[in-house]
Amino acid sequence: MDVQRGQWSSRMGFIFAAAGSAIGLGNIWRFPYVVGENGGAAFVLLYVVFVVVIGLPYMFAELALGRSVQRNPVGSIEAIVPGSWWKWVGFLGVLTGVGILSFYGVVAGWTVGYIFKMAMGNFTDFTSFIANPWPVLGLFALFIFITASIVYGGVEGGIERWSKILMPVLLVLLLGLIIYANTLDGASRGLTFYLKPDFSKINGSIALQALGQAFFSLSLGMGLMITYGSYLSKEENIITSGIYIGLFDTAIAIMAGLIIFPALFAMGESPTAGPALVFVVLPKLFANMPGGVLIGVLFFILLSIAALTSTISLLEVPVAYLVDEFKFPRKKIVWPAALFTFIIGIPSALSQGAVDFFTNLGWLPRALSAPDVLSHMSFLWGTFSLAFGALMLSIFVGWVWGTDKASNEIVQGSPFFIKTKFIWAFMIRYFIPVVIFILLLNIFGLF
Ligand code: PFF
Repeated sequence: MDVQRGQWSSRMGFIFAAAGSAIGLGNIWRFPYVVGENGGAAFVLLYVVFVVVIGLPYMFAELALGRSVQRNPVGSIEAIVPGSWWKWVGFLGVLTGVGILSFYGVVAGWTVGYIFKMAMGNFTDFTSFIANPWPVLGLFALFIFITASIVYGGVEGGIERWSKILMPVLLVLLLGLIIYANTLDGASRGLTFYLKPDFSKINGSIALQALGQAFFSLSLGMGLMITYGSYLSKEENIITSGIYIGLFDTAIAIMAGLIIFPALFAMGESPTAGPALVFVVLPKLFANMPGGVLIGVLFFILLSIAALTSTISLLEVPVAYLVDEFKFPRKKIVWPAALFTFIIGIPSALSQGAVDFFTNLGWLPRALSAPDVLSHMSFLWGTFSLAFGALMLSIFVGWVWGTDKASNEIVQGSPFFIKTKFIWAFMIRYFIPVVIFILLLNIFGLF
């Protein structure tokens, strides 16, 4: 293997890094608010079903492809069908990494700002906080800077070690908050909203949101798992590793909801607050609890770190592409890539009240005029592009590379997979592309 590219230092190293990528703002910030906006429990159920029947089998495909040819998303496709248009699918993944990071970094910056806000005992005023251009831009720049400094040194060392210590602390803190939130008066109505499904609420657009959220949360659809899989050794078990990652990731998202919804209903807030939800509800919870300042600070520190292990992975995809395909030295290309992402993200950063042009999009055609730039970026890259990327990549693995070759790759390290490979092949070739295709058509109002 190409020694220059590096490899995970151990099996757990890979699982922690991949889980670190998966677990982030998607679980604690995005999941609760999309659940709230899409009617609650029925959405949650659909989400879990999509994680199991689409997310996991699809994740095995990305990991197998990456480990087989040991390249970035574009290079992996090129290695299999040189010179074909399929490489554009990989390229879309690289762009999607930049697109997601450009708005994700903004929210990550808010998270860092909230560490200081909590420390000062200032639990309110989210709206004015995000509308204040200079602090928001400064924190966004800071976050991208820290991300780039870590990617600069390569993925193997630091991230693995950090995640191992900090993720368990996050887990314990979430557990404590679940217990506290559920003892509040009126909390049980929140649990009903969150856990008792009303199936009449499900429609095509909600299903697409649930699918997109599953891809977003598991870091799928843009070749991240191809890239991380490319640092994986042949002895690793792709199946059990993937299941661990999916399990951790889903557990953290479900736990976040078990805090937010009971707290929200107890405080009489609305579940449809959108991206503001977590930043409004949780500080209110901290404000009223004993030791709230300390817990608030700790919570936002951990959330920032969870976001950091995700932003690192988002930047790693374009960087791996530039290093592999253009032979740029990693240390030289990281800063321009980070700066480019920052510039793309400026409209999102200023779209929460700071600059009217980005906040109120009345100048766009009606269908696009609401809501703001950040929410549009989140849908475009974080839902649509991931779902479309996963559609194309499952067709690529299923029909172009072929499920036989893919299965032979997976079997190395997971011998028992041989027994189930026919089911998996069916999922990748038919079930997954068809479901994604139908849900995507729905965007154009076909149903
Ligand atoms: N999975 C991350 C989260 O839930 O916060 C976001 C993300 C990271 C999406 C990496 C896609 C990706 F490739």
